[in-house]
Amino acid sequence: MCPLVTLRGISKSYAGIPVLRGAQLAVEAGEIHGLVGENGAGKSTLMKILAGETRRDRGEILWEGEPVRLASRADAECLGITMIHQELNLAPHLTVAENLFLGHEPTVRGVIDRARERTEARAYLEELGFDLHPETPVRQLSPARRQLVEIARAAMRTARLVIMDEPTSSLSAKEVAELFRVVRLLQSRGTAVIFVTHRLDELAEVASRVTVLRDGRTVHEGSMPRLDYSHLIRAMVGRELADFYPERAAKIGGVVLRVEKLSHQGNFQEVSFEVRSGEIVGLAGLVGAGRTELLEAIFGIRSPEGVKVYVDGSPARVCTPQDAIRQGLALLTEDRKRTGLAPHLPIAQNITLANLRAVTRKGLLDLRKERQIAESYLELLRIRAQSATQMVGRLSGGNQQKVVLAKWLFTRARVFLVDEPTRGVDVGAKTEVYRHLNKLAESGAAVLMVSSELPEIMGMTDRVLVMRRGRLVANLVTRQASQEEIIRYATLGE
Ligand SMILES: Nc1ncnc2c1ncn2[C@@H]1O[C@H](COP(=O)(O)OP(=O)(O)OP(=O)(O)O)[C@@H](O)[C@H]1O
Ligand SMILES: [Mg+2]
Repeated sequence: MCPLVTLRGISKSYAGIPVLRGAQLAVEAGEIHGLVGENGAGKSTLMKILAGETRRDRGEILWEGEPVRLASRADAECLGITMIHQELNLAPHLTVAENLFLGHEPTVRGVIDRARERTEARAYLEELGFDLHPETPVRQLSPARRQLVEIARAAMRTARLVIMDEPTSSLSAKEVAELFRVVRLLQSRGTAVIFVTHRLDELAEVASRVTVLRDGRTVHEGSMPRLDYSHLIRAMVGRELADFYPERAAKIGGVVLRVEKLSHQGNFQEVSFEVRSGEIVGLAGLVGAGRTELLEAIFGIRSPEGVKVYVDGSPARVCTPQDAIRQGLALLTEDRKRTGLAPHLPIAQNITLANLRAVTRKGLLDLRKERQIAESYLELLRIRAQSATQMVGRLSGGNQQKVVLAKWLFTRARVFLVDEPTRGVDVGAKTEVYRHLNKLAESGAAVLMVSSELPEIMGMTDRVLVMRRGRLVANLVTRQASQEEIIRYATLGE
């Protein structure tokens, strides 16, 4: 039996720089196939070629053994190939229902039948078990919920092959479980799924086979291991990774951040806690528990009533993010693309943007220094770019994330608020981010980290706060807590 699709010797260059160098991939009908590799390895590019969105320079694509051209997205759709993109493609001003039916609207006598659209969308979302309201405008949804809309939209059209480019990077454990249910539903209908991800433990849950790309080449194809991913990781990064969660030698000192009965209508109520110097505190909970909103409130994005935040014992009068930065706070946002990057500026300028003082001498920008700093971060985080002067908008998804991270690591602050710091970042760079967080703590800063990856919380934090429906329901010493206990608090409360 021949595979559903075979990619052979696929090559692609941008401006003379090779991105794919003879990559290959074979997917059987109805199979769930993982595609992994470092940021910039060429995963998205290869998938866009398969979805007819990008033209290959060389190579062959066989569909059920027959060569196909795939010169446009329409060609791919004809065969039953759909792709969910890493950068979401929804129309923010339209509702959930309108997005689901975009381009395929039901009509009566030539007029779009919005009522039917809503009813069908509601029934369909119910069938998938997604907790989404058809009439909510997409711009009001969190990145995680937008992802669910994209997934629903792709699953809606009968497809032979669905490509999911990092579908889980912004989902909570519960939403990932929902997604996997949908993936299995697709599989039971005979649809094959290619799953691009950086989370190997999740991949092991659904995928039976895996392909590893490195520098545009296929370096490994085989069945998906269930427990020990070390040879997969070695294939991805081309080296051994020591200590995934590095040891930290931070001395825990006095209270740096104190939050007292902080409330924000509809998001969270009466939240109180402290973070000490040298401490990394995790903030766990399901998506929608109010974690992001809490970080934003501390940072002055949602101004709370009265002073509820103290830095080093003094009340922090934080009404705007500018105030927050002045009072020694830094925030790494969850939605990096929207709030973290200037895509049309070079990498170097993006990195130094929040700490220009460090690259200014006598009132003038020291361009050489700016470049040196940027280059050191390119190396540290293994950001795949042509040079520090390249525009950020041209980088792969994960490499853009790394630039935001670099910018944020380069700020000087007493309190670091971090929202999902390693989302979308490959395994090699993850440990570098952890090392850096440790360094910040060792230098006496306080770190508060929202993470939906429990192993990350377990491996990195001293204490973990658990939020559920806007309330703080647990404050645990990480060493004495278990993942099960955290999940129990996050889902059931006290
Ligand atoms: N339109 C483009 N113009 C120039 N370079 C590009 C373009 N699209 C992609 N690249 C480059 O191709 C390389 C591979 O990018 P790709 O998006 O395929 O990586 P990826 O494996 O999906 O990475 P990630 O895990 O970060 O999503 C990157 O170095 C990227 O900068
Ligand atoms: Mg990608």
